[in-house]
Amino acid sequence: MALQRPKGTQDHLPDGSPKLRLDVSARAFRHVTDTAAQVLERAGAAFIETPMFEEAELVKRGVGGSTDIVRKEMFMVYYFGDHGGYVLRPEGTAGLVRAYLENGLKQLPAPFKLWTHGPMFRAERQQRGRLRQFHQVDYEVLGSADPLVDAEAIWLMVQVVQALGLKGVQVKLGSIGDPEDRETYNAYLRELFGAHTERLSDDSRDRLERNPMRILDSKSPEDQALIAELSVKPMLDFLGAEAEAHFTAVRSYLDAWKVAYEVDPSIVRGLDYYRRTAWELHHAHIGAKSALGGGGRYDGLAKELGGSDTPGIGWAFGVERILIAMEEEGLSLPAAPQPQLYVAALDAEHVPLAAQVALGLRAAGLWADFGYKPQKPGNAFREGERRGASQVALIGSDEAAAGTVALKNMASGEQSSVPVSELAGLLGRQDAPDHGALSSRS
Ligand code: HAM
Repeated sequence: MALQRPKGTQDHLPDGSPKLRLDVSARAFRHVTDTAAQVLERAGAAFIETPMFEEAELVKRGVGGSTDIVRKEMFMVYYFGDHGGYVLRPEGTAGLVRAYLENGLKQLPAPFKLWTHGPMFRAERQQRGRLRQFHQVDYEVLGSADPLVDAEAIWLMVQVVQALGLKGVQVKLGSIGDPEDRETYNAYLRELFGAHTERLSDDSRDRLERNPMRILDSKSPEDQALIAELSVKPMLDFLGAEAEAHFTAVRSYLDAWKVAYEVDPSIVRGLDYYRRTAWELHHAHIGAKSALGGGGRYDGLAKELGGSDTPGIGWAFGVERILIAMEEEGLSLPAAPQPQLYVAALDAEHVPLAAQVALGLRAAGLWADFGYKPQKPGNAFREGERRGASQVALIGSDEAAAGTVALKNMASGEQSSVPVSELAGLLGRQDAPDHGALSSRS
């Protein structure tokens, strides 16, 4: 059996791994989610987790039956050879809105802000930054149609990437109007492309019937060539008065807060639930075709899923793509947290005691490591240094008899004999390590 992970998946590796790069570093991964947690929770977003699989029907209704995601990229969930009617979630929004409605969160004051992170699944052709199992950080606000909420959501997305140190990020903002505006636009597209059906890909001939706007985000080169040739008018030209006013309001907030963005009239997004505000976050190193993240308003989604009418808006970014962008920008991670103490026994007889001392300190909330084999002092100091321990404690027969350790401060080189009973107090007076430790830049 080949030792190989499934196509389109990644292992996120611990520090010290021979194959470690920033974009597959588990610590980098956690740094992204921790940073998102800080920024989003300071804005009042509550953390939520929902299942990794949902009813296929929910996803189909939410994301849209004519999207590539639903038509080509969903992983069905099978068990005991039977199809259970479930899919691995290709995105988070449909499940989060379901959870919001199902669990009575609507009774809480609105707007209600949620955030989550976790794996999403799309059966896409694998390439750098395009995976079959990828991870999103996802932020959603339910219960308000106020353009101020849209602007705040965009601001927060930018805040997260800025807090990560990313510089080459660009917000491309558009609006895809209200459903009536989209109908007018789709009629226009049907007429325009209808005169060239022979040049459309098979998929797009199908899209022409179901949802012509989907032709615009087709990945087929023949479709893209035709789109360029026909100088297709953008959705933005078809906004009705209300959607237009909403878009203007969102822009004026962003202008007032000095959030840099570019109006991109061609934004259509790859999911059907959007209305009005829609945007993408791009990065030079990810390529124009793929975004770091994207979001938009989805006021009709809750009702579409069978719930009561609830406006909503949100965004998600791909953690793997963020990590690629960070790597390309040469960003480094905050220093890894390190143990306060490394305890070594000088002979085999005292290894259990060294372990007991370390375990006692851990139980007192400190970070102590110990050696599983006896070590000479020189080797113990080298091991302590390799682990980045601030202090190294040695235990031999004399120390065991006296109930002490021989303690060396690795920074000053100072050595002293310290009773085991005083170790916790001594180490505790120094700064306790931050075990999450990835939240502050060093
Ligand atoms: P999306 O644009 O489909 O939106 O995905 C958001 C982000 O997820 C993308 O910009 C990208 O960074 C990442 N992503 C998507 N597919 C892949 C893939 N195959 N491999 C790696 N990364 C990928 C949504 O999913 C919406 N639910 C966002 C949203 C939330 N809208 C409103 N609320």
